[in-house]
Amino acid sequence: MSNSIRTFGTHDELYRSAASDVADAIIAAVRFSGRCSIALSGGTTPVRLHELLATDFAHRVPWGSVHVFWGDERYVPHDSPHSNYGMARRTLLDHVPCPPGNVHPMPTNGDDPARSALEYEHTLQQHFGTDVPRFNIMLLGMGSDGHIASLFPGSSALLEEDRRVLAVTAEAEVPRRLTLTLPVIRRSELSFVIVTGSSKASAVKEAISPHAELIQCPAAALQQTEGEVRWWLDLEAAGE
Ligand code: 6PG
Repeated sequence: MSNSIRTFGTHDELYRSAASDVADAIIAAVRFSGRCSIALSGGTTPVRLHELLATDFAHRVPWGSVHVFWGDERYVPHDSPHSNYGMARRTLLDHVPCPPGNVHPMPTNGDDPARSALEYEHTLQQHFGTDVPRFNIMLLGMGSDGHIASLFPGSSALLEEDRRVLAVTAEAEVPRRLTLTLPVIRRSELSFVIVTGSSKASAVKEAISPHAELIQCPAAALQQTEGEVRWWLDLEAAGE
């Protein structure tokens, strides 16, 4: 496992650097195994990254060999403004030639998130086999409370060692969510964590501290991963 932190003076530099590295990582994965399995994150941070992958960097990416999954999802219809799938469609997937059969959204159309979590575990098993899924690229953001995906401080989901996908309840305005668990996130070959804004500076400091407590700061889990972790920070998020 290796951990690196890159800090940028402007968001344009940050996102262009991240988009270039994502494109390079996709190319490398496809060259090595014929396909790239990437898990997208949600919220607002990835929007600019998606837009660059759909425009300035699109020509570099072998989209036909890219399989898209999600690290977490809000349990809302895909056309909801809160949907991570909907955001990824609008900002990226509607603009690149990724085959529809390669796009694997977390199911949110039922009324039973726990059942949907089991369905997504089946989707992962169909793609990765019975071992713990190993994503080539895991895109992550982080909340000001240190959460990653939908793994929030104090959640028992942080202690899960067997399940790959869980239904959880979050404090945010969209309480019901689905999330990959830490065994999956930690197994990724390459995790990209993009964090911007001063409100997250203390969580960044905690997440990389050797004294971090996982239960209080879920992002600290990224200190124990099988693969490489690259942080992209603006000056505000790196402020502490
Ligand atoms: C989600 C994300 C979540 C996100 C952080 C940061 O579904 O909200 O997957 O983990 O990365 O909450 O969100 P922002 O990018 O909006 O600050």
